[in-house]
Order: sequence, then structure tokens, then C-alpha cells
Amino acid sequence: MAKIIGGIGTAHVPAIGAAVDHGKQGEDYWKDFFAGIEPCKEWIKQNKPDVCFIVYNDHASSFSLENISTFTIGVADEFEPADEGYGPRKVPSVQGHSEFAWHIAESLILSEFDLTISNKMDVDHGLTVPLSIAYDQPDEWPCKVIPFAVNVIQYPPPTANRCYQLGKALRKAIDSFGEDITVAVFGTGGMSHQLQGERAGLINKEFDIDFLNSLVSDPAELAKQPHTHFIREAGSEGIEMIMWLIMRGAMDDQVEEKYRFYHVPVSNTGYGLTILENK
Ligand code: DHB
Ligand code: FE
Repeated sequence: MAKIIGGIGTAHVPAIGAAVDHGKQGEDYWKDFFAGIEPCKEWIKQNKPDVCFIVYNDHASSFSLENISTFTIGVADEFEPADEGYGPRKVPSVQGHSEFAWHIAESLILSEFDLTISNKMDVDHGLTVPLSIAYDQPDEWPCKVIPFAVNVIQYPPPTANRCYQLGKALRKAIDSFGEDITVAVFGTGGMSHQLQGERAGLINKEFDIDFLNSLVSDPAELAKQPHTHFIREAGSEGIEMIMWLIMRGAMDDQVEEKYRFYHVPVSNTGYGLTILENK
């Protein structure tokens, strides 16, 4: 059967992708950051997940505001990096796992989470930056990827609790797939940041650290928080953090945090990374 071997939470800041693509890892601005994510690469090398299920949001790159889907699962065999205005990142295309993705779609829909199913979508920095954080710069990504996009761009986004409950249903979906494969679930986005308006540049380190603590010990409490809590404390784009609760919901109630790294700022964002394993 398919088995979850870990949950990874990470911000997906586009500047990280640009730093990797342009060889800036050794520069003063970046070197502490890249040293801090090294243990994630190590964890991936040791654990070698067959499939990465990556929860992320599209930033109006592949999806437009013509049709807004709250939850979208990618069931294609392949996904191309999206053109976000500077041409697509020169990273490998992403190989899907169609059969597994369809199984998850069916299981989630039967659990009453009504998804949009996508046979064709490009994947933006929300998904490719976490891959760069985990795998650096391979010729091919060494895992299959199931992209799972959440609308956190256009109001109303789903609640934190909806994401957490969806994670629990995702766990059942993964556990019931009859192929012997290992799965890492990624929750991406955040942490605190606001890219627009009067509070542009907002970062709330204290909030981010509390979030990382509660994610391990009391995710149900985080799931109770309304949108306004995330937006007030973590900025308008800080709402992306609700996507980490899908990952957390897919893990056991009791988890061990194998690694944590927090670094501020990365571009306009409080950068957080956590690696969780079931106890
Ligand atoms: C930044 C962070 C994001 O999560 C994003 O999607 C875009 C920009 C930033 O910090 O610049
Ligand atoms: Fe983002």
C-alpha cells in the first residue's frame, strides 16, 4: 500500500527559485538560507519518496480569474513549469502519477471534498520552488509529483479547518492506494508576508514561530482560526499558511519534528521549513 513517510512545510518564495537558477547560493544574502535548507535535501536523499504530493497555490500564472476553483488536483502524466512573466523556469518538467491522482480524486470526492480535476495545467513557483528546495538542480526530478492547488488568491478562500479536514481525508486516500510506494506530503506557502497595500512588507516572526510550534503540538487549534486571524497577524498573503494544514491533517495526531529552520527575511517573506514524521 502507499505510505506517507513525511510531511514537509515550506514557504515557496519565487526569489529562491531565481537564486538557484542563477547560481546565487553563495552570495551574502543567500548563504545562511541555503545552509539552513541543506538538512531538507539530506532528508530527501535518505528517504527517497516515490511520490511528492504538493499542496500549493497558483499565483494567477496557469489559472485566471475566469474560473476559480477552491481545490484542484492535477491528474496528468506531465506538468510544465509555468511562464510567470520572465519565461518558464529552466527546471525539468514535472512527472505526474495519473493513476494515483485519480484514486485520490475519487477517494476525496467520496469523502465529500468536491475537487476540480485538471488534465492540463502548468505549475508555477508555488510548486517548483519547493522541488528546488528539496532536490536542488537535478536533470530530472527524481520523484513523481501530484500537484494540488488551493485558491488563496481570490476571496473567499477555504477555511483553515476545511484544509485540515481535507488533509485527514487525504490520509485515507493515500493509505488506500494499493501500490507499494512512499509518499511525502508538502504544504507550501507563507509564512507571514504582505505584498500589497499599506502594510506591504509586513513580517511577523513571533506569529510564524507560534504557528510552527502549534503545527506540531496543536494543529486543531490552528484550524479553528478564521481568515481574519491569519490576515491580521501574517499579512494578506500570509493566508497561504492555511495550506500547511492539509499536510498536517494527513499526518498522525502525534508527530515528531525532525528538522526546523526559520530565516527572515527571504525576499518579502518570513521563511519557515519543517520536516515532520509520524511517531
Ligand atoms: C513572495 C512570496 C510568495 O509566497 C509569493 O508567492 C510571491 C512573492 C515574496 O516574498 O516576494
Ligand atoms: Fe505564494
